[in-house]
Formats: sequence, structure tokens, C-alpha cells
Amino acid sequence: MKSIRKAVFPVAGMGTRFLPATKANPKEMLPIVDKPLIQYAVEEAVEAGIDTMIFIIGRTKRAIADHFDKAYELEAELEAKQKDKLLKLARDVIPPHVNCIYIRQSEALGLGHAVLCAAPAVGDEPFAVILADDLVKAEDQNCMEQMVNIYNEYQSSIIGTETIAKSDSDKYGMVAGPVVDKRVSEVQEIVEKPAPEDAPSDQGVVGRYILTPRIFDKLRTTGRGAGGEIQLTDAIAALRADEKVYAYSFEGKRYDCGSKLGYLQATVEYALCHDELKDDFCAYLKSLDCSVK
Ligand code: G1P
Repeated sequence: MKSIRKAVFPVAGMGTRFLPATKANPKEMLPIVDKPLIQYAVEEAVEAGIDTMIFIIGRTKRAIADHFDKAYELEAELEAKQKDKLLKLARDVIPPHVNCIYIRQSEALGLGHAVLCAAPAVGDEPFAVILADDLVKAEDQNCMEQMVNIYNEYQSSIIGTETIAKSDSDKYGMVAGPVVDKRVSEVQEIVEKPAPEDAPSDQGVVGRYILTPRIFDKLRTTGRGAGGEIQLTDAIAALRADEKVYAYSFEGKRYDCGSKLGYLQATVEYALCHDELKDDFCAYLKSLDCSVK
């Protein structure tokens, strides 16, 4: 049985919904309180036992590699000023046993194409995919830890899902199939961004996947789908012909940080849980007159 050691982070998207903030900066570097989205995603993977992070980067993504690299000047300065707490924050961005691999996706041809770019680094083993703009807050085990457990049980590809408003089905991959256990169902249909009247259910795919390496064969022959892009969803639909694929309705709350509203909701709720900030921030929120200006 192969364990999940590698995670792919597709971070080459243009982030147009956050322009101009994302003109020169990747959207995955937008902070929720004091940590960029990509760091939450990497921490989730590390906690799930993953030790190889594969970033599929685009033109404006140098900041991501810099973020996970050693910052000599900053560290020297903080050390000289004996700012130990800050020094630790700068150093602890990623644990020393974790390897980072950066692969450039030269053309933005879609999520499926981004995942295919990871094939040489993933090789012949199952792997995780994490979309950093889907931030998941969970109580006990984080979302990827839960999914790794489900993978260990089923030894098949696992897609993270949640119930969404059917009117939003054209923003998600949508799945349907019979329930096999409390939170697990077998995927019998999976379709990318269908119109609400065509959606097979109200179960939307969120940005967490564990995939078997056969997905790469499927991606190599997947043509352009919804939005003219090579869609991971279409390759998963093709994978179903050869292997079982399961949907897992994870425990936790997801914030769609690819939208301004979801990003703001995450910011407020993470600040209300932040040790240094929560009391003052809560008092501030209570003092606000929330009428629309
Ligand atoms: C991607 C996937 C989609 C999934 C979504 C989750 O879409 O293609 O199937 O439901 O992520 O966030 P995107 O949001 O990149 O358009």
C-alpha cells in the first residue's frame, strides 16, 4: 500500500477576481490575517503526513518560491535585533524535512493541464491536490488528514465535496452517486460547472483531491472542456471507466477565498480565533454600525 507523500498545488491561475491586488502577486499569497493562503494549504498537507510539495507556478509566482525559501537578510536582521519570536515565525514557514518542487506551467490551459504538469515529479504513486483558495477550517483533523484516512481505507481516488446551493452549480464540479458510508459515496457522475438544471445533485467538488497516478494517462487525452480549458473533472470522469472514485463530504467549514466575499468571511472568522487579536477584534466588530455606506 502506497502512502500519500506528495501534494500538488496548482498556483498558476491569473487571480483576475482580485485585480488589481493580483496584478504582480499571486492570489495564493493573499493573507488571511497574517499567513498567506498557500501557507495554510502547505501546513494542511504537512499535518496530513505529506513531505513533498509540488507547486505548479505561472508568470507572477516568484513570491511563492521566495516565501518557502530561507530569507537570509531578514533572518540576519531579526537575529541581530534579538527579535526571537519574529525570527521563529520567519523560519518556521516550512519544516526542514519538507521538499519543495517548482514546475512552471507556461500556458494557462486549465486545472487539468496544471495537474498534468506535475506528472514527472509525482511519478507512479497516489498524490494529493490542494487548491489553496479553498480554505477549510476543521476542528479535529484537517481536511487532507481526513481524506488520507479515507484513501487508506478505500485505496482509490477520493474527491472532497460539500453541499452547495444548486443555483451555484455552474461554479463547481458536481458529483452524484450512491452513498457507501456516512460521508463517502461512489462517484457515478462528475461534470464540470453544469447549469443548475443540468446538475446531477447538490454535491460540489471543493479543492481537495487524492488521485491515483492513472489520472495522468487520462489527462494526456482530455480535450478542452468547460470554459475552453483542460478540466481535471473530465479526466476524473474518464478515470471512472477503469477505477472506482469516491466522493468524501469532509468535516469542516470551507471558505471560498477565490471570491471577495468568501475571502472577507475567512478573514473575519480567522481573526476571531486568533490568540492575539480575538478579544479586541470582537469588541471592534460589536462596536460597528453595520449599515451599508
Ligand atoms: C475548480 C474545479 C472545480 C471545483 C473548484 C473548487 O474550479 O475545476 O471542479 O469545484 O475548483 O474550488 P475553479 O474554481 O478553479 O474554476
